[in-house]
Amino acid sequence: MSQLKWWQTALFYQIYPRSFADGNGDGIGDFAGMTEKLDYLQALGVDALWLSPHFPSPNWDWGYDVSDYCGVAPEYGSLDDFKTFLREAHARQMRVILDLVLNHTSDEHPWFIESKSSRDNPKADWYVWADTPPNNWQSCFDGDAWTYAPERGQYYYHYFMKQQPDLNWHNPQVKQAMWDAVRFWLDMGVDGFRLDAIGTIYEDPNGTPHSVPMTMGELRRFSEIAKTADEKKQVEKYWYDMFCNQWGGPGLHELMKELRTILDEYDGDRMLVGEDENIDYMGNGGDELHLVFNFALMRSGKINPALIRRNQKERLAQLDALEMRGWGCNTLGNHDSSRMYTNFGDGIHDAELARINAALTLTLRGTPFLYNGEEIGMTDLIITDSTRLRDTMATWYYDFMVRELKVDVTEAAQRAGEMTRDKNRTPMQWADSPNGGFCPPGVQPWLPIHPNFVDGVNVKTQQDNPDSLLNYYKRLIRVRRQSPALLAGEYQPLHETAQDYFAFLRRDEKQAVLVVLNYSPAHHDLAFDLAGFQQAHVLFSSAGRSKTDLALKNIHIGPFEALIAELK
Ligand code: GLC
Repeated sequence: MSQLKWWQTALFYQIYPRSFADGNGDGIGDFAGMTEKLDYLQALGVDALWLSPHFPSPNWDWGYDVSDYCGVAPEYGSLDDFKTFLREAHARQMRVILDLVLNHTSDEHPWFIESKSSRDNPKADWYVWADTPPNNWQSCFDGDAWTYAPERGQYYYHYFMKQQPDLNWHNPQVKQAMWDAVRFWLDMGVDGFRLDAIGTIYEDPNGTPHSVPMTMGELRRFSEIAKTADEKKQVEKYWYDMFCNQWGGPGLHELMKELRTILDEYDGDRMLVGEDENIDYMGNGGDELHLVFNFALMRSGKINPALIRRNQKERLAQLDALEMRGWGCNTLGNHDSSRMYTNFGDGIHDAELARINAALTLTLRGTPFLYNGEEIGMTDLIITDSTRLRDTMATWYYDFMVRELKVDVTEAAQRAGEMTRDKNRTPMQWADSPNGGFCPPGVQPWLPIHPNFVDGVNVKTQQDNPDSLLNYYKRLIRVRRQSPALLAGEYQPLHETAQDYFAFLRRDEKQAVLVVLNYSPAHHDLAFDLAGFQQAHVLFSSAGRSKTDLALKNIHIGPFEALIAELK
């Protein structure tokens, strides 16, 4: 285990800065708030923080449209506030990684303002320009991917919304400018980056048009109304066909290698995690990205034991096949995805499943990432008042449905509320006081607070209750931290045909740990035949067992129980 790097054994926690903690009482999270909450995060057992973008931004995409890569958004504080946060996090042995948006900038970034000003300015070639739209490519957020800039009488390309023009990564000056920003933060001491939407950096060089007989907005609508299995299959194929020429183009491996070389010039094992599930972007396992996310698990719809086994078999085999053996990275939620409590619930056993899935993320081989609020069981909030939506992707779609498709406003609002990412970005619920303790009473938070903060879904109430989800996470995290096998050990599935439960071993030279996660309301009496072992000493059980020894020949597992036990 000693050879493992910090980012392999660390537990990461994603902070969505706008929604995490409001230190100055304006209804928006900020660095003062984040710094105040570092003790909370340390007590939770977190080792590293990933901050969603904290840079100045016009906020069409809430920070993912960056207008200055070396600054701090004024609503979050100053550069000094950032430095204080970084210092205080480091003082608590927590690393900090930033969100690096490479594919595009804001249309208010000085680079773009200059680029669009004429056809022959020094940055004329920093973005992707054409006299007329060369193809029918779509933006995955807001209609056509080509938008006219009257200043230069040409169209620019944007994979995301029109306020997010794609940079031209074939231009070496673009690279230099971005690498300067990377060095700026590395020099300051940040520990690495999460790389946003890397797959979209390079497109099909031939600009091949897509073959889908509809626009993105129409396809979105078709996805919602598709009923039969055939229609649903068609939908899936259309989504792929619509965008497949706009990502994964040649050049990314070289680019990732270049970026990796910069990180490797620094001490402290700075790291890169890509917002992509493609293991290819880890290169040989030592020369491109350190990690890519196991999104297949997060996007699987409903998690069950057979699906987890398949997923692990496939991914671990791919990682093992890399020349320098790759390391996994598991997560079940982030700021773009429905909250895990809601997403993987069945409507009846949501609380039990949330606990089982927390145990899953924290016991699988690989680095776990938690998303802020999952530790208290925050759930999606469907915002049906369209005036309270803040996600431009959803407001655009709402307008499109009403204007172009003549969808009734009530239905349009419901659909927008369901598809928007606002539902999983609502402010962190710190207490059962007004505004969930996120911001002062009487202040309107930037997104509504989920009303369930009064029903125990808040930090304060849960801190005081030993049986709360928060204390469950803390206990689990402690067990994980103290177990060399859970941090570093190999994975070996057991009882591979079991439908109800997922059982596996984690094992290194020093320790062997059995994990059993019962995804069903049924009781099970299990026998494990493991050469050299007779007994298992309980390290953790969601059923509140005492830390006794169990005979491997006969282990009784209760409904939705998570059991972790050390083999003896
Ligand atoms: C990534 C981010 C998402 C953002 C998009 C464009 O997918 O996670 O929030 O909207 O990139 O930057």
